[in-house]
Amino acid sequence: MEKKYYARKPEKIPENWQKILDKLTEKITDEILYKFMFCLETAYALFARLILAKACEDYRVPHINFSEFIKNEVKRYSFRGDFPKVAWAVLLRNLIEEMKRGLVESVFEEDIFYWWTDDFKLGKDELFSAKKVDEYMQYFSEAVGQVLLTLYKFDFSEIVGDPLGTLYQRYFDKETRKALGEFYTPKEVVEYIIDAIRYKGKSIIKKRLLDPACGSGTFLVEALKRWLKEAEDLAKERGWDFVLDKLCKEFHIVGFDIHPFATLMAQIQFMLVLLPYYKKAIDANKTFTLRRLPIFRTDSLEDETKTGKVSLDNPDTITMNLKLPIRQGEEKEFIKVEIDMPNIVVAISDKTGLLNIPEYFLALQAVFDCVKEAFSNGKDSISKYELEIAFKKYLTDKEWNKLVNFFEPYAQKLISVVKELKYKFGDGRLLKSIEDFALASLLKNHVKYDFVVGNPPWGGILKGEKGTLSDKQLKEYYKEVYKSAVGKYDIYVLFIERGIYWLKNGGKLGFIVQNRFLKANGHVNITFLNDYSTT
Ligand SMILES: C[S@@+](CC[C@H](N)C(=O)[O-])C[C@H]1O[C@@H](n2cnc3c(N)ncnc32)[C@H](O)[C@@H]1O
Repeated sequence: MEKKYYARKPEKIPENWQKILDKLTEKITDEILYKFMFCLETAYALFARLILAKACEDYRVPHINFSEFIKNEVKRYSFRGDFPKVAWAVLLRNLIEEMKRGLVESVFEEDIFYWWTDDFKLGKDELFSAKKVDEYMQYFSEAVGQVLLTLYKFDFSEIVGDPLGTLYQRYFDKETRKALGEFYTPKEVVEYIIDAIRYKGKSIIKKRLLDPACGSGTFLVEALKRWLKEAEDLAKERGWDFVLDKLCKEFHIVGFDIHPFATLMAQIQFMLVLLPYYKKAIDANKTFTLRRLPIFRTDSLEDETKTGKVSLDNPDTITMNLKLPIRQGEEKEFIKVEIDMPNIVVAISDKTGLLNIPEYFLALQAVFDCVKEAFSNGKDSISKYELEIAFKKYLTDKEWNKLVNFFEPYAQKLISVVKELKYKFGDGRLLKSIEDFALASLLKNHVKYDFVVGNPPWGGILKGEKGTLSDKQLKEYYKEVYKSAVGKYDIYVLFIERGIYWLKNGGKLGFIVQNRFLKANGHVNITFLNDYSTT
């Protein structure tokens, strides 16, 4: 199997990592650092998901009982009073499955941070038999046990403010959080910006807001709190199930970030705010569930409508290049795959019967569900019947034959791409990254927003994450696509240009940027603003 890497190197290695790294290796190579970072992110990601699981219990979300689940599992895996240490990780795998069924599926879905689960596909007998799991993974399992027992003691419904942030600050040191890219924009600054664009009042429940560099979701959370408050009346009339469905399916609050880990954190923060309302939605409608939250991993500066190519086989299809979050080879470049997407003008037309972008989004979601299901059942192709069932879950009143015939070739192509990835890298979890990419490209390239907010990266042209392109190629790409990419510009200027492009007529943008943007002698070209003078 080819070597693969993920994550980025910290700019500076935190002092307290040194001791651990010294034990692991004589020489700290880039490869070791990448792996170390990825393990830390995995731990962080797990911790955050577990906090969410426990918070569900504390907010009395139906169908989810963290403590009860753990107690039952401990009983299940105990034998004559003995509970094997490796069982903690097995138990955790089961808990995650349970959460996926009971809560927003996409937040608990298998992604790149679940690599460890492969080592814990053990039956009860195997847990007690000779060493099936290596020494390191045994440590891992023990650590999982400690975390589970620690979380057991908290009651998140009583923690005022931001539970994830509070616990991180307690359990992870500042340097590590910084190396992992954690960045909390101060609450006062977030409120200031959101007030300045006048994101308040009843009208916001009909509007769309985007943060294209959402990090761990500080702006999204503030916007969400305001949106939910204004949605109270609507909820009295139509119920919270209707309101939450509307929030996610009509993309009222959307976040993008290039980093998979930041995206996951933003989803969890978002969900922690939604939980009390989620409970109300389930209380009113027992079958209520949300499939996904409108927060995606994507490169906000890339415009796939410009980089995609019309397919030679089919003029209705655009072949897009996608960067997966795995690095490989000497150059440690991200792996690229090609995926086919229908041209949007054809996808929303008489050929499919889809009426608008939200409907197209749901149809794509159905295609991905179907591909995932077929893939997890070891199938090589998609049946039309299964595709139709998937569409019926999301859409109503459509000509199903038309829809199925149109999307079937895309679904078949997708499953062949995932099979190939599984063969090459031993990992089918990359399908989640492909799904994110496809859905995000719709919201990024075809939807306009009433508000664009955020704290984009700054500090140089190359301060953003770099994807597959070399520094030289990246500069050329920016120069080709952005009018503001001239002279000695800074990356945040591109975010401003793209931000303005996303705005609807009369829309408002609020970013935190360096103040030299305002100075006449700054190195910022803002002539592109002339193109938007009518909006
Ligand atoms: C200063 S942080 C924003 C933090 C966020 N506002 C918060 O308070 O949590 C900048 C974010 O931009 C993201 N980023 C950098 N380049 C990006 C790109 N090309 N597309 C999308 N996000 C990007 C980084 O991963 C990082 O999370």
